Amino acid sequence: MLPPDRFNDEFGSSDDGQLLRTLVYCSSAATGVDAGTVSQIIATAQTYNSRHGITGILVSGGGLFFQWLEGPPDSVATLMGRIILDSRHNTVVTLTESDDVRERVFGQWDMELVPADGIREVLNDALGEVKDAASKRALRLLMRKLDNADNG
Ligand SMILES: Cc1cc2nc3c(=O)[nH]c(=O)nc-3n(C[C@H](O)[C@H](O)[C@H](O)COP(=O)(O)O)c2cc1C
Repeated sequence: MLPPDRFNDEFGSSDDGQLLRTLVYCSSAATGVDAGTVSQIIATAQTYNSRHGITGILVSGGGLFFQWLEGPPDSVATLMGRIILDSRHNTVVTLTESDDVRERVFGQWDMELVPADGIREVLNDALGEVKDAASKRALRLLMRKLDNADNG
């Protein structure tokens, strides 16, 4: 993972005024996926994402994944094409996908693992910081989906 300052210089504040794709999906973890598997996913993601200008979070818990990806539209599309084929999860459902000129919501995180019980705090903090309506909508949608997942 790049140090936050360097990462921000490359992909954070410097993309002001550029088109960013936000893609948020949820999926079911495959049988046998454990903490070790998730660590491997994060290690791969941090290397790949930092090279391709992608930032975001991966929420893991209760047999589900939620992932927020943001970056140049082509890079996000290419990555999502790989992720969708990954046998470590299935039933990948896109919750939101939009292209907007905006600042990154998770500009310091090339892919941060957030445990399910810490996600509300992360999303609330992000909601307090984002300025554009599309990001606010996406964050609220993710919160609602997480609430539904909690309630079975
Ligand atoms: C839930 C989940 C999230 C993932 N997120 C990323 C990611 O953000 N970046 C990444 O490079 N790989 C991610 N991966 C791994 C990719 O699906 C894939 O294994 C990786 O890009 C290596 O691809 P390859 O096996 O074709 O070389 C994720 C996998 C899963 C199951």
